[in-house]
Amino acid sequence: MNHLNEKIFQLRQDFMKGVLSEKDITPDPSELFALWLQQAVAAQIEEFQAMGLSTVSVDGKPSSRIVYLREFDNNQFCFYTNYHSRKAEEIENNSHAGILFFWKELERQIRIEGVLEKAPTAQSDAYFDARPYESKVGAWASHQSHILSSRTELEKRMEELKKQHPPETIKRPEFWGGYILKANYYEFWQGRKSRLHDRISFERNETGWNTCRLSP
Ligand SMILES: Cc1cc2nc3c(=O)[nH]c(=O)nc-3n(C[C@H](O)[C@H](O)[C@H](O)COP(=O)(O)O)c2cc1C
Repeated sequence: MNHLNEKIFQLRQDFMKGVLSEKDITPDPSELFALWLQQAVAAQIEEFQAMGLSTVSVDGKPSSRIVYLREFDNNQFCFYTNYHSRKAEEIENNSHAGILFFWKELERQIRIEGVLEKAPTAQSDAYFDARPYESKVGAWASHQSHILSSRTELEKRMEELKKQHPPETIKRPEFWGGYILKANYYEFWQGRKSRLHDRISFERNETGWNTCRLSP
């Protein structure tokens, strides 16, 4: 363990790959997000669509996990999940959430905050229908976040559900679908030399967005 701690302790990396300046600020943060997303795609970043999602429990305890961004448009970020999962229970109680991207190859982090709501059922149906068959059955089989007695229990359930839901007729379970985060805050972070990083935030107001530069 000591050598691991030593390794962590000694890590020193300078960030040199880019600059985020006031002239990069777009009237709407959606445009800057779209540009950065495009650049992440162009840089062939693996799992660029993986984002940290943080929610808060009824007693105010935060929890985080990775989910995949599946649709993005006009300050709305959509992911798909189980509506009976731990995260869904937390969202039910408090719809405020944060999402987080880290694209190390570009030395960029984007923090986004907003309010979640369930995606329209037609949108969830369309996304579900586009999934591979095994993933569709997987959505039926997993009581996400609930205790399993064993791996075998899950695999048996999967086989039974395949019989009940053949590929031609399988439909989205009601307990599975999308959430859309409607963003009201962004922070774009570009790593810079000597820890003097660039941070630009956008906060929604009645008429548009306030932008600020934050100290690194
Ligand atoms: C790369 C990656 C992508 C993931 N994508 C999703 C996703 O899109 N939807 C989802 O429900 N879980 C996804 N997961 C699993 C979640 O991180 C998490 O384990 C699961 O949603 C249960 O979380 P909860 O118990 O807090 O509800 C992903 C995990 C990883 C590592």
